[in-house]
Amino acid sequence: MTRADPFTAGRIAGTTDNSRIITNTAAPDALEVALTDDVLVVHGGTPLEGRIRVRGAKNLVSKAMVAALLGDSPSRLFDVPRIRDVEVVRGLLGLHGVKVTDGAETGELVFDPANVESASTDQINVHAGSSRIPILFCGPLLHRLGHAFIPDLGGCHIGPRPIDFHLQALREFGATVDKTPEGLHLSAPNGLHGTKFALPYPSVGATEQVLLTAVMAEGVTELRNAAVEPEIIDLICILQKMGAIIKVHTDRVIEIQGVPKLHGYTHRPIPDRIEAASWAAAALATRGDVEVLGAQQADMMTFLNIFRSVGGEYEVTDARPPKLGDPGQEGGIRFWHPGGELNAVALETDVHPGFMTDWQQPLVVALTQARGLSIVHETVYEQRLGYTEALNTMGANIQVYRDCLGGTPCRFGRRNFKHSAVIAGPSKLHAADLVIPDLRAGFSHLIAALAAEGTSRVYGVDLINRGYEDFEAKLADLGAHVERP
Ligand code: EPU
Repeated sequence: MTRADPFTAGRIAGTTDNSRIITNTAAPDALEVALTDDVLVVHGGTPLEGRIRVRGAKNLVSKAMVAALLGDSPSRLFDVPRIRDVEVVRGLLGLHGVKVTDGAETGELVFDPANVESASTDQINVHAGSSRIPILFCGPLLHRLGHAFIPDLGGCHIGPRPIDFHLQALREFGATVDKTPEGLHLSAPNGLHGTKFALPYPSVGATEQVLLTAVMAEGVTELRNAAVEPEIIDLICILQKMGAIIKVHTDRVIEIQGVPKLHGYTHRPIPDRIEAASWAAAALATRGDVEVLGAQQADMMTFLNIFRSVGGEYEVTDARPPKLGDPGQEGGIRFWHPGGELNAVALETDVHPGFMTDWQQPLVVALTQARGLSIVHETVYEQRLGYTEALNTMGANIQVYRDCLGGTPCRFGRRNFKHSAVIAGPSKLHAADLVIPDLRAGFSHLIAALAAEGTSRVYGVDLINRGYEDFEAKLADLGAHVERP
């Protein structure tokens, strides 16, 4: 059977009982991606047990691929996961004349930017709506070609996700931006020049936009209120390897000295800390025991503190390189449910070094199993709690509020967004038919189905392939009882 692509697929067709499918009213577009042949049948109630591996972070790898456009010689990136976002960026690079080939090692990609060229808007628009990464092509294409066309962006439905900071930054560098119904046309008739600029909020994408533009802009750029997520620091490492001069100060200030040319890089990216935390949450919610090879303690400290407060156990294994008589060992973190009851916690999502917004949805499923009232204040995205509705239909007891239930200053309290949740537990989850609304909420639906008693049908699971490599094979490795009908 050919599995339909959720990015191009139409609305549910031919379901026998659509009324039983739980949709997420916060993301009604989810209906567009749910198809009868894109369904995973999950027989829940079995603890996940075993060992899986995470590779390069989705939210670094895709940006590292864009950075390859800036070099005047080939770049080599290792540990690239087979996920949809990588395919989209690979396609866009190819359209712009970057030759992308598989290297000798599994997950190794080689980018040759010797013949960067313009692509037609029609060709580029094939990728419209499929990912948010295309916006990061602006700076590199302006440097290489003097102009850029960016299609309509995609990404998850977790709020309006404006790009105003990106466009403001690009204009500060001297770019002109023309918004048209088909997408954004940009040019830099007088070149790009360093600038002093403060972000209204430490946006990850806008910080990356500034970095990818400033490294080859003439003069010095000073970015204040920058995001400093580990993925950004890793991108800075890549750019530094390419010949960039970047200083990261302690107060969210990044200073970039523009250079006239950059060369290719060779880089092994940081592992995916969102995927690692997702499997950790799955272990806790199913009362299981999962070792995540590749998971790194330093990038997950905030998650690990909450995981321990909830009552989960973990053990960090440091990597040891092989040497004579010792095969060495791959580092990772083993996460498990120690038995007994879990504890309720209060947490607020925040920019790094806070609790990541992308850790929130998977962990909330585990919080439905904790005794007492847990509180979650989502301060990064205004609409990232809609998925709780589906959990309630499965037996969870989650109330969402417009108030800020926490002390972290937040942009949403006065703007009428339901961005705080109170989770009363423990609740016995029962099986249901679910439609996946977005990537991380989708994984949380999957965890809920795995934790619930009975057989659930999870529609639109292909969306999970956007950010979780081989998740079905990993589920099988962990002993989950799942099947494609
Ligand atoms: N924002 C604006 N204007 C802008 C840019 C951002 O108002 O021009 C706002 C957003 O609406 C949001 C906040 O700033 O409320 C933070 O957005 P940010 O720019 O930091 O997010 P992003 O770069 O679009 C990346 C990740 C997200 C992750 C966030 C926060 C990628 C491809 N995506 O998004 O990851 O949640 O940073 O850490 O790197 C995911 O992997 O599932 C995912 C959504």
